[in-house]
Amino acid sequence: MKFNPANNIQDLQYFGEFGGVNPSISDSSTYTFLSAKTMFDTFEGNADGCYLYSRHTSPSNLYLGEALAAMEGTETANVSASGMGAITPVLLQLCKSGDHIISSRTIYGGTYAFLKNFTPRFNIETSFVDITKLELVEAAITPTTKVLYCEAVSNPLLEVANITALAELANKYNLQLVVDNTFSPLSISPAKLGADIVIHSLTKFINGASDTVGGVVCASQAFIDQLRNVNDGASMLLGSTMDSLRAASVLKNLRTLHIRMKQHSYNAMYLAKMFEADGLKTVYPGLTSHPSHEIFKNMMNAEYGFGGMLTIDVGSIDKANDLMELMQQKNLGYLAVSLGFYKTLFSAPGTSTSSEIPEEEQAAMGLTDGLIRFSVGLDNDIQRTYTIMRACMEELNILESAMA
Ligand SMILES: Cc1ncc(COP(=O)(O)O)c(C=O)c1O
Repeated sequence: MKFNPANNIQDLQYFGEFGGVNPSISDSSTYTFLSAKTMFDTFEGNADGCYLYSRHTSPSNLYLGEALAAMEGTETANVSASGMGAITPVLLQLCKSGDHIISSRTIYGGTYAFLKNFTPRFNIETSFVDITKLELVEAAITPTTKVLYCEAVSNPLLEVANITALAELANKYNLQLVVDNTFSPLSISPAKLGADIVIHSLTKFINGASDTVGGVVCASQAFIDQLRNVNDGASMLLGSTMDSLRAASVLKNLRTLHIRMKQHSYNAMYLAKMFEADGLKTVYPGLTSHPSHEIFKNMMNAEYGFGGMLTIDVGSIDKANDLMELMQQKNLGYLAVSLGFYKTLFSAPGTSTSSEIPEEEQAAMGLTDGLIRFSVGLDNDIQRTYTIMRACMEELNILESAMA
């Protein structure tokens, strides 16, 4: 049967303590034991169903984790206080001093900064490659390589990773393929395509309300047990634990993700087609002009579309800033980082979310000054939105300058 992530979420039935339709929230940091022996067994990891201390896990976090594992088709999952709180323990769990990571060069700026500036302190080195060129990925593998890291759809350039092909490489060389699927929840199911570990920043589409940060690692039970191990588990020891109240609210938002993703994708496709027809340099995986359009198509769960993220290039940072300010004034969205909100968000990644990447490297990867990243909102009438956006671009002579 075809894998359908939204059906898997739909089929989860959790009852609250008093028959509530939402599961009860575990409002405790610590848990009692009726016998001292059970407490000892729980520390040893041998007492299923017992809770110890909420940094380790809590009922509310388990409910959310199980729902996200069902969405990604992995055995289980571990939620965390932020996306970075999911990414950093995974990499530190998989690698020790002397190990090597191969990462896509177009990834979220914070992940890039972690790999470029932080993990070298522990003698963990990373090679950054163009993940769409499999021969370059293979050539970068060394005897100490442990991890292949990429984003399914990359931030901010919207490069698409060929997860099936990368999984084959990972198998051949016995590497762990770690995929950040933040930009493409439901549309792409990396674990089903062969990824070993799937990560999300829940802050974005999955929560969808821009009212919290959060993260998740979806993986095998064995790996999640390692992350939570009281003696050497990176998630347990680094302590990036999600609060139970927040886990309960993210779970409620997850229940509407399928409807939201369809609308985000519909709206983004509409705007991308119009912008491209206007002569603007537009990048959206749903456009046939996208270099990896076919790869996305082959991987996708079609009904959720190509996602809500697109970029346009308006030629210069000044024009980009003028346009974003004007669009905000016209109530088309917010000049803000992040993504997956119900209103459209726009930012110029070169000077914001990717500013950790040095200018020469930004240029090499095609991250230009005039690039604006749009996280397209849930607008009911996207045609009306487009008409106002176009008027803003005309007022600032952007269409002419981009076509010149
Ligand atoms: C693709 C991607 N992964 C991870 C993160 C980090 O997530 P968080 O901000 O929740 O720590 C971000 C944040 O922008 C992101 O865009």
